[in-house]
Amino acid sequence: MMMIPNRHYAELKDSYLFYHIAQKTKAYLSEHPGAKLYRLGIGDVTLPLCNAVIKALHQAVDDQASQERFHGYMPECGADFLREAIAGYYAQRNVQLSADEIFVSSGASDELGDILDLFDRSNAAMIIEPAYPAYVDANIMAGRKIVHLPSDCSNGFLPEPDPSSEADLLYICSPNNPTGAVFDRAQLQKWVDYANAHGSIILFDAAYEAFIEQPGLPHSIFEIEGAKTCAIEICSLSKTAGFTGTRLGYTVIPKKLARGGMNMNDMWVRNRTTKTNGVSYIIQKGGAAVFTPEGQREIHQNIQLYKQNAKMLMQTLDALNVWYCGGKNAPYIWMKCPDGLGSWDFFDLLLNRIQVIGTPGEGFGACGEGYFRFSTFGSPEDTKEAAKRLYELLK
Ligand code: MLT
Repeated sequence: MMMIPNRHYAELKDSYLFYHIAQKTKAYLSEHPGAKLYRLGIGDVTLPLCNAVIKALHQAVDDQASQERFHGYMPECGADFLREAIAGYYAQRNVQLSADEIFVSSGASDELGDILDLFDRSNAAMIIEPAYPAYVDANIMAGRKIVHLPSDCSNGFLPEPDPSSEADLLYICSPNNPTGAVFDRAQLQKWVDYANAHGSIILFDAAYEAFIEQPGLPHSIFEIEGAKTCAIEICSLSKTAGFTGTRLGYTVIPKKLARGGMNMNDMWVRNRTTKTNGVSYIIQKGGAAVFTPEGQREIHQNIQLYKQNAKMLMQTLDALNVWYCGGKNAPYIWMKCPDGLGSWDFFDLLLNRIQVIGTPGEGFGACGEGYFRFSTFGSPEDTKEAAKRLYELLK
């Protein structure tokens, strides 16, 4: 008998979006050795970790060198000191969570794939598009049916539940990657009511919540009435606190969340205690520092620097009279490609003519065709130069 591979891999696109862009960039550099590129593509941070985190990391390293303070295996679901710090962060927004409703993870992208272990493969996953491509790919790998819910500028990229797109798992990312659009309370309430009425579960990606500046917009699905019986929230310190290379995130699974007589929080404890030995003590100590007053002040200073990049790009697009959204409550700007260009054609144009790298909208789903995403996580100098080059090219 032959080993049978997971044939669903054959249903995936040839390569993952950001890997594909990295390959195209590499090819350009090998043809143009030494060329300077302005990278506004993948949302990777460029500012170093803040002082509060660095101090905590150093102290934790010293702990590991001390007989008295040394830590071996960490609790699989996360250290109490970090779970409690995160619960305290939610409490500031009047969301009451117990520490054991919070699971420390090695980041949102890892967790978005891993969490699918909780659900039967016969479940259908509804994905609001344009969307972070890993939602689709992780479900294809698992052989799950995908229900695409396209959105566009007519609904501000914030669609309502659609009775003709029923599914068991509902992916919502707000603030959204890639469009930067943010659901308000009333809009999220409709999704929560819909999920509770249909027995679906919302997988709420809150990776960009710290970028919300408009008062009153929800940072967490658990600010919405009824969410504790229908939602799981996945969050990350990657963008909030510059942890893309350090790796740390957390997942909230309320104790009240159950389906088919099975409790999802208990199931995730069972999963984590089997499949992981937790996140390292050192990194969790660094993560806990993010939730101190000093850490909060410092990470928001960094976020403000990225917002300055967003302003530079938005001013340029305004001056060019190009349609865009995002940038205000999210670190991404989503623009319409000029002259009806396709999004990969626009990618090639920017790379070849002005050496600016962005992300083609089509990579986030078919309805992203004709759009393009800029990340605001670049250095101020590179972003300024990229904005200048963009203006000269399109004016
Ligand atoms: C993005 O650029 O969409 C993100 O940085 C990708 C990620 O978070 O993995």
